[in-house]
Amino acid sequence: MKPSNQSVIYIYIVSAIAAVAGLLFGFDTGIISGALLFIEKDFPVSTEMKELIVSSVLFGAMFGSLASGRLTDRFGRRRLMLIISGLFIAGTAIAALAAQVSGILLGRLFIGFAIGIGSYTAPLYIAEVSPYELRGGLVSLNQLAITIGILCSFIINYAFTNIDGSWRWMFGIGLVPAVLLSLGMFFLPESPRWLVKQNRHDEAVNTLRRLRKSTDVSHEINEIRNSLQIKQASFREIFKPWILPVLFLGAMLGFIQQVTGINTIIYYAPAIFQLAGFPDASSSILATVGIGIVNVLATIFAVCYLDKLGRRPLLLTGLIGMCISLIGLSVAFQSGTDASLLRWIAMGCTFVYIICFAFSLGAILWLVVSEIFPLEVRATAMGVAVFSCWLWNFIVSSTFLTLLNAMGPSMTFLIYALMCVFSFAFCYYKVPETNGVTLEQIEENIRRRLPLRDIGQPGPSKTPLTQTPEYQAD
Ligand code: BGC
Repeated sequence: MKPSNQSVIYIYIVSAIAAVAGLLFGFDTGIISGALLFIEKDFPVSTEMKELIVSSVLFGAMFGSLASGRLTDRFGRRRLMLIISGLFIAGTAIAALAAQVSGILLGRLFIGFAIGIGSYTAPLYIAEVSPYELRGGLVSLNQLAITIGILCSFIINYAFTNIDGSWRWMFGIGLVPAVLLSLGMFFLPESPRWLVKQNRHDEAVNTLRRLRKSTDVSHEINEIRNSLQIKQASFREIFKPWILPVLFLGAMLGFIQQVTGINTIIYYAPAIFQLAGFPDASSSILATVGIGIVNVLATIFAVCYLDKLGRRPLLLTGLIGMCISLIGLSVAFQSGTDASLLRWIAMGCTFVYIICFAFSLGAILWLVVSEIFPLEVRATAMGVAVFSCWLWNFIVSSTFLTLLNAMGPSMTFLIYALMCVFSFAFCYYKVPETNGVTLEQIEENIRRRLPLRDIGQPGPSKTPLTQTPEYQAD
């Protein structure tokens, strides 16, 4: 049954509010590059301390994502989002009002912890409340929000460039989306899948009716119940042989999203532009705002087309484009083209790279990891995939400058290009097309031990996994 217009509008509103967590993720990871310049003026900070300030958020996020599996199962998706909006508010206030560097570090750790949980709970929540026909676009709203958050942080960095003590304002502005998230989540429904899992069937039915704007939700409830017939899994059970392949796939996607170099551009674009001959910091930061804008636009394209074109074509095309633009960057730096030409080549390649990332790996990682795990282990297994993403983000971001110094830009970008080649081969052979298929069907395919690439095969399940009495809507 096609979702009604009314229900489509409602589900978009619900998803957009949950996606404010993504906006905070983008804002709080993007803001530091600008804030750091001013923190240095107020406090004497060593290079190591600077690295610590930048990486404290990534560190917090690693632990947040590890804890989030258990936390979402225990508190529910909605309540946990409310809790993390409180953490965002507390962390932002601590960092913005810090009297010493230790205060900034503590606040950023809190914020990172909240980002780690949010980066996992928001797509999970959206995937679970979405009708499957719209799931791709709706979950990608989260990535769209991340890119809008990054763009806002770049604009604010640019706007505050010449104001003293501005780092407090840069951090402090993060309070606005944090408060909006807490207000918004207050009114949203809990995930019906989580309610069924908690044996709160009547609430689940009512919530689903509200979400679908329809009284007949028995089919969907039955599908969820069928997928839940097997007992709840413990942490150890995510390592069971039938789950291991998808766990590996999730962790690999997190790895691939980061080792192909996205955050060397997002966190260090001004430095790269200066290396390519941009005359001063402010023109480099302005060019970085351009990066933020194309990142948002290409993500809008992904939101509109993921459910029409499918995940695999976008993913594979994007990886090819990323690889070519990284090779372009590498060649440009190698051939020592005269400064003005190099500047434009570097900017062109960086823009193409960002566009290709945004419509492929950017949106698809968060979508696919919210889709591939069976419900009984979804929370914990998705936590592992998201942890892998943060871990590799941390490793790549904290080694980029060292690589640049040791090998030069040409070799460094060539390494990321090689990573794209490897990633293309992996995705070509292993990543399934999950477009237009229910989460329950994907789960059934995994139980049937289909090869990874085929777990998104459609087709109504003719043999139910277990014989449960049909749920009757009253
Ligand atoms: C990635 C982030 C990245 C952002 C850029 C996200 O999907 O996880 O690490 O900074 O995309 O848009």
